[in-house]
Amino acid sequence: MEDNTKQLKGILVGCGFMGGMHAQIYKSLPNVELVAAVDGRIAESKEKLEKLGCPAPVFAELSEALAAVDCDFVDVCMPTFLHKNYAIEAVEAGKALFCEKPLALSMEEADAILSAAKANGTFAQVGHCLRFWPEYMRFMKYHKSGDGGKLLSLSLVRRAGRPDYGIENWLNDESKSGGAALDLHIHDTDFVLALLGQPNSVKSSVTRDYSGPVHVFSLMEYDGLTICSEGGWNYPKNWGFQMAFHAVYENAVLDFDSANGKGLTICQGEEAPTPLDVVQTDAGESQSGEGNVSDLGGYLNELKYFAKCLSEGVPPAIATLEDARESLALTLKEIELGEKAGS
Ligand SMILES: NC(=O)c1ccc[n+]([C@@H]2O[C@H](COP(=O)([O-])OP(=O)(O)OC[C@H]3O[C@@H](n4cnc5c(N)ncnc54)[C@H](O)[C@@H]3O)[C@@H](O)[C@H]2O)c1
Repeated sequence: MEDNTKQLKGILVGCGFMGGMHAQIYKSLPNVELVAAVDGRIAESKEKLEKLGCPAPVFAELSEALAAVDCDFVDVCMPTFLHKNYAIEAVEAGKALFCEKPLALSMEEADAILSAAKANGTFAQVGHCLRFWPEYMRFMKYHKSGDGGKLLSLSLVRRAGRPDYGIENWLNDESKSGGAALDLHIHDTDFVLALLGQPNSVKSSVTRDYSGPVHVFSLMEYDGLTICSEGGWNYPKNWGFQMAFHAVYENAVLDFDSANGKGLTICQGEEAPTPLDVVQTDAGESQSGEGNVSDLGGYLNELKYFAKCLSEGVPPAIATLEDARESLALTLKEIELGEKAGS
């Protein structure tokens, strides 16, 4: 049978930790070809892409890459403070946009991206990867099934050793990354919004250090339900990484902790906790050896979905620019409330 899947050409903007992950995923998608990359470190990026098996010409500027190659989409994996300019340049050139999370550092920047995308009819998606992470997707599916009865409480954590792998240590500079609140904790804020929508009220406490809001503790109230969400990276560099959730339903408890190796479990009635079936990908691990997460599964799912939407000519409906704007707004509110509470 003839394969009508549209072939897609992409420009990768930023070849660091995340750019390396995305390049490996594009290599595994049969209908996507990385035709160019953009990075200030041209020689290192070229060498890295070659090593990862996805060679492409590397340019210092996106304008040069856009002039040199034809493409369908631009994937922005630059440090967050650079997202706005690259994203707007891409959409104004008429390209579809994948932009890493957080979309931007401020609502003004986010709104500028949204209005440029609206004006250009851009198909866009943001890297809020928990919406595509196998265990979190399964949790979402379980929640929607209603099988557990009412959700009574939910705790989420995301903890990491101090990230020192960002080029020029940009992650520990609030003016570039927004600190752990906007870079790390926003993942769970976004997931809570995807699962439950806007809370009725929020209380937060924030620990601050030289790198900005470094550890966030939030309580979000819904009708008859409390969410406790915590995220921080002020742990020793080699402490590791942990993401976890614990959902208490009337008739079941769901547990996932990336640090305990048990996968996603469910506990019901008199039974001991048993594994819940999770659809894992065969994406494997990142080969570039950077960053604090190497499992490619969630990233594969999100980019596969993005490519599927583009090739079918439908706008992505998961992790949209509007979703990312809401997640940014709520995380900024958590920071503001936390700082008021501490003053
Ligand atoms: N979805 C996730 O789970 C996840 C995980 C990690 C990072 N991220 C996001 O991905 C984005 C990139 O993060 P990273 O960890 O890959 O960063 P990184 O520091 O590893 O890589 C950034 C790349 O951008 C290039 N660069 C930096 N400043 C530049 C400039 N002024 N001009 C040209 N090139 C420049 C660097 O040379 C480097 O290759 C960030 O927005 C981050 O929040 C998302």
